Amino acid sequence: MAGRFTSKLLNAPIVFNFKDLILLPGLSRVEPSEIDLRTRFTTNIELNLPFVSSPMDTVTESEMAIALARQGGIGVIHRNCTVEEQVNMVKRVKRSESFIIRDVLTIGPEMTVGDAHRYMREHSISGLPVIDGEGRLLGIITGRDVRFADPSLKIKDAMTKDVITAHEGITPEEAIELMRRHKIEKLPVVDKDGRLTGLITYKDVALRKMYPNAVRDEQGRLRVAAAVSPFNLNRAKKLAKYADALVIDVAHFHNSNVISATKKLVKEVGIDVVIGNLGTREAVLDSVSKIDEVAGLRVGIGSGSVCTTTQITKAGAPTLFAVAQAADALAELGADIPIIADGGIKGPGDIALALALGASSAMMGYVFAACKESPSPMTIIKGTYYKLHRGMGSPEARRKRYALDRYSQPAKGIPEGTEMWVPYKGEVASVVAELAAGLRAAMGYAGAATVREMWEKARVAWVPGSLEGFNRGLKTEF
Ligand code: IMP
Repeated sequence: MAGRFTSKLLNAPIVFNFKDLILLPGLSRVEPSEIDLRTRFTTNIELNLPFVSSPMDTVTESEMAIALARQGGIGVIHRNCTVEEQVNMVKRVKRSESFIIRDVLTIGPEMTVGDAHRYMREHSISGLPVIDGEGRLLGIITGRDVRFADPSLKIKDAMTKDVITAHEGITPEEAIELMRRHKIEKLPVVDKDGRLTGLITYKDVALRKMYPNAVRDEQGRLRVAAAVSPFNLNRAKKLAKYADALVIDVAHFHNSNVISATKKLVKEVGIDVVIGNLGTREAVLDSVSKIDEVAGLRVGIGSGSVCTTTQITKAGAPTLFAVAQAADALAELGADIPIIADGGIKGPGDIALALALGASSAMMGYVFAACKESPSPMTIIKGTYYKLHRGMGSPEARRKRYALDRYSQPAKGIPEGTEMWVPYKGEVASVVAELAAGLRAAMGYAGAATVREMWEKARVAWVPGSLEGFNRGLKTEF
């Protein structure tokens, strides 16, 4: 027995976080404007910027996910709501923009102008392709056709019959050119037998041009991820029909029940699944070797701005430490899985440090809660605007039903989160532009032109005094 506890101490690793390290300047061959911030969120999903918004109910609903994906990052829709609400939020993101719309609303030739009018109003659309029983395109009826026509008139007598159509394989540029030439706003897509297969609208194609950096799927729709509990397979399966990826959202992933439930979930859903949160090398080794096809690692425990986990329990794996541990574990396994640094990130320097230690992207709650597009309420205190940011394990969030299995009563008898008012920062677009400019500047100092070069080239230094244990000369693993 003697000496066991001393050796536990002597072999204890040193933990560190954003305040403990700085990025060392290195030889640079590129200007900040030439730095490429493209990265991966999961093994199959690429991002144009390494920014991800947290699945929290004061941070990510549809509006945030749309705004962030348009800028080049991705949002993870929170799960502190019913399955239907969460699925609808995901659907709203997927429907917000697409090059070719596939679930086209149509009308039959024997219906009336009155029917078309009502239908268009109900769905807020301005035109309907007219198809026969076989799905063949007969014409198109638009707001202009119905507005002044007799409501009892049959569609077939009111529609435009000479429809300009496109074939599958048309490019966005060709579609714009065709619509401009014919002064039309809707372009039905048909197959070789004249059957309707989709619809291109001018608005959607124009939006593509407005957001050239947007992160989109193969069909031109914005990408979005959704948070799930590993124990709610039903929710995961419903979300998997629409979302691009699922993010397992538990405070402590390194738990046998969580790992075995996730193993099953991954097999069932058939889309990329990010696991987390993870904090140690052992946790990553255990999880990645037990679950087939892990698509991403969300790492960091206890560092969130509204997190009280470490304060209450003295348990935690600070975000930067967790990134380094995960990167080491992946190297040991020879696995190429993107790491998402999560918790406590306040600005571009923190993101640069996370990338320098092996992360591929940074997840932020505090930063995005402060934006116009977050679902949180705004208040004004002494002339300054603030938005609410609250932990998903805070008493208020726990009161909402679906946070139950993460930090609250049945699992744990104590809240592990709090809430705060964060100064309002404006639109996601400007916040992201500032983060990207700061990150490019940081990478310029580090001499790294890409995220991969950050892993390979960037050097970091300890900030003296921040590591008491280190200064006392304890043996470390590093
Ligand atoms: P932030 O960017 O510093 O605000 O940290 C956001 C992260 O904190 C989230 O992505 C979660 O991992 C974590 N988190 C959210 N709610 C809680 C909580 O109530 N307790 C502990 N951690 C939380």
